[in-house]
Amino acid sequence: MNLHGSSIRTTLQLGIAILGITLASVSAQVGTDHMASAPWMNSSLPPDERASLVVKEMTLDEKISFLHGTGMVGLSPMSPLSVNSNGGAGYVPGVPRLRIPALQISDAAYGVRQSGENGRYSTALPANVAAAASWDPEAAYEYGGLIARELRAQGYNMSLGGGLNLTREPRNGRTFEYMGEDPILAGKMVGQVMKGEQAEHVIGDIKHYAMNDQESGRNAVNVNIDKRSMRESDLLAFEIGVRESNAGAVMCSYNRVNGDYACENKYLLTDVLKKDWNFKGFVVSDWQGTHSAAKASAAGLDHEEPGEIFYGEAMKKAVESGQVPMAELDDHVHRILRSMFASGVVDDPPEKSVVDVAGGFEIAQKIEEQSIVLLRNEHAQLPLDAAKVTSIAVIGSHSDVGMISGGGSAQVDPPGGNAIMPPGQGRTTWQAHIWFPTSPLKAIRAQAPRANVQYDPGTNPDSAAALANKADVAIVFAYQWESEGMDLDSLSLPEHQDDLIAKVAAANPHTVVVLETGSPVTMPWADQVSGILEAWYGGSRGAEAVARVLFGEVNPSAKLPNTFPKSEADLPHRSIVKPPRKSTTHGEPEEWKIIAPGLPPFQITYDEGLKVGYKWYDAEHKQVLFPFGYGLAYTTYNYSDLKVTPGKSVRVSFKVTNTGSRAGAEVAEVYAALPESAGEPPKRLVGWSKVKLNPGESKEVAIDVDPEYLSIFNVERDAWQLVPGTYGLMVGGSSQNLPLKESVTLK
Ligand code: BGC
Repeated sequence: MNLHGSSIRTTLQLGIAILGITLASVSAQVGTDHMASAPWMNSSLPPDERASLVVKEMTLDEKISFLHGTGMVGLSPMSPLSVNSNGGAGYVPGVPRLRIPALQISDAAYGVRQSGENGRYSTALPANVAAAASWDPEAAYEYGGLIARELRAQGYNMSLGGGLNLTREPRNGRTFEYMGEDPILAGKMVGQVMKGEQAEHVIGDIKHYAMNDQESGRNAVNVNIDKRSMRESDLLAFEIGVRESNAGAVMCSYNRVNGDYACENKYLLTDVLKKDWNFKGFVVSDWQGTHSAAKASAAGLDHEEPGEIFYGEAMKKAVESGQVPMAELDDHVHRILRSMFASGVVDDPPEKSVVDVAGGFEIAQKIEEQSIVLLRNEHAQLPLDAAKVTSIAVIGSHSDVGMISGGGSAQVDPPGGNAIMPPGQGRTTWQAHIWFPTSPLKAIRAQAPRANVQYDPGTNPDSAAALANKADVAIVFAYQWESEGMDLDSLSLPEHQDDLIAKVAAANPHTVVVLETGSPVTMPWADQVSGILEAWYGGSRGAEAVARVLFGEVNPSAKLPNTFPKSEADLPHRSIVKPPRKSTTHGEPEEWKIIAPGLPPFQITYDEGLKVGYKWYDAEHKQVLFPFGYGLAYTTYNYSDLKVTPGKSVRVSFKVTNTGSRAGAEVAEVYAALPESAGEPPKRLVGWSKVKLNPGESKEVAIDVDPEYLSIFNVERDAWQLVPGTYGLMVGGSSQNLPLKESVTLK
């Protein structure tokens, strides 16, 4: 074949040489022709110009076909066009005559979804909340890069990841899919994930915009919140995420905000997102989150998913009758095309190939190692010394075979199927508890080959305690599963695990608890155990990462992105408001028909306002179990030499020293207290840096604080405002351990 190819080429070359032209000039000419007929294929033109050139050529029907999906299995009627779908959550046909490819869209929160039903393989990264716990923007970038490479290998060019709702309500069942309670941390980290994805030529999407902070009644609920609180908390996270990444798409959420559905909310979509933040990409509705054609279009919704209840025939009629101006329609189409050109999916379409399985494992493990938070380590219980420990009891949470993962549209299918099911059950079902085949028991045995390592399932606390009693060390794995489409009833560990841990701890003073949770949990036994690790949902290589931390091959360097309260009674709301019966569906065969026109609203009022997460506990003087930004290491760090220099942005510089005997990485955090007249909670995170330090080493750190992070949102002026006065700047290793403080006056 090769020989053939080269001999043809030689003959051609000869012939062309006789004519006095070279092959290179022939191809240049072909290229010019191709661009003359389709000038938007010239990749040196700006994406906006390319999009405008295409829009001019499109017929009304082609434009309409761009504004909606073609259906999704199980949710809405599929159109005949969807035979070309790649099997993901969305498929939008391209315009072949104009060389515009289709959009092949997949969910991809912590890995590519729907591998099981498509007969493919995807890596499960640690949950998004875990990545946030790394506080490492480079890790977040790598997280996005891996997802995008696997999307492309499977034939997708657009991702639905980028969950950015703040943990305003930690019982929200999607807390594992989000990046914590602080808008700057979450915004920056999701921005990095998106950047990592888009660098691989996949359209990134940030979701769910906005205030979709609980799952219960999500298609009906009306969230009441004042503008200032919204702009400085949940919306600030999106503002930063969009600005940092130029994400191609933003998904509007299911809920209503101050009266209007998010997907037809002019304030959110046009005034804030498109005008104030200058977002150039397109707004896609959450799946069945569209409720009108003309109203949604005028408010700024560009694209309906998964079907065409409103943005198909109904939209066409609205355009033909003049109810929706053609310019408005063109803007929707322009934005979609612009994102396609800007992200590179037109110039560099995905080609199906085999996923790099080994490479994925490596990245998943590395990120988990940077994300496991050491919460407690009495008498230097950890790391365990493999040379000294002779017996270990491993208890609970199916830790003989696997680790739990988060459910819903984020779910990644495990290779070989659910680890606790008979082999071969590769497909997952909605909201099934899925255990990934990464075995803590095996990983611990590998770390301590000379120790006698025994397993007890933990279903009978007395038998688990008996095993623990005979061992040098007991390691209890405890889990709390969560998923899209549900909220947690409480922050307590389910299935009597508190009782199990208390009994094991009473039987063995060297008890270590490894938590696999997405949300914070309460720990009535915290003082009785000697070690606690928060491992989150650990992904494809969770067990190996946990074992390496337990035995000190990895020095923990992660910090909490969410506060762990002492008790649920300390949360801003006693319980999650549940929808009345009329505001929910009840498994009707065609639920979408009931949801589309809008379910009767019920109300939640976020009257804690600005006080989200640690800002609430600080302001209300509530003691917490483990504060935001907290995490221990197998070494210690010292902070000194704070200097605060006002200027265009305030420069905060200081020194961090590793005062222990192991190399590590410290997340150094900077908080600001605004002048009293600003009326803000006591402090807010305004910057951080993850600093790698060898034993005894010191490093100077300098952080330039963005003036917006020191500002308040002035509703009358509809703008950010720096309040003149005295600002306190505080530096340290957690929101409640800030040894360095200095004041500065800003005008
Ligand atoms: C979820 C989105 C998801 C979409 C498509 C919705 O139910 O809220 O996060 O991207 O489905 O699967």
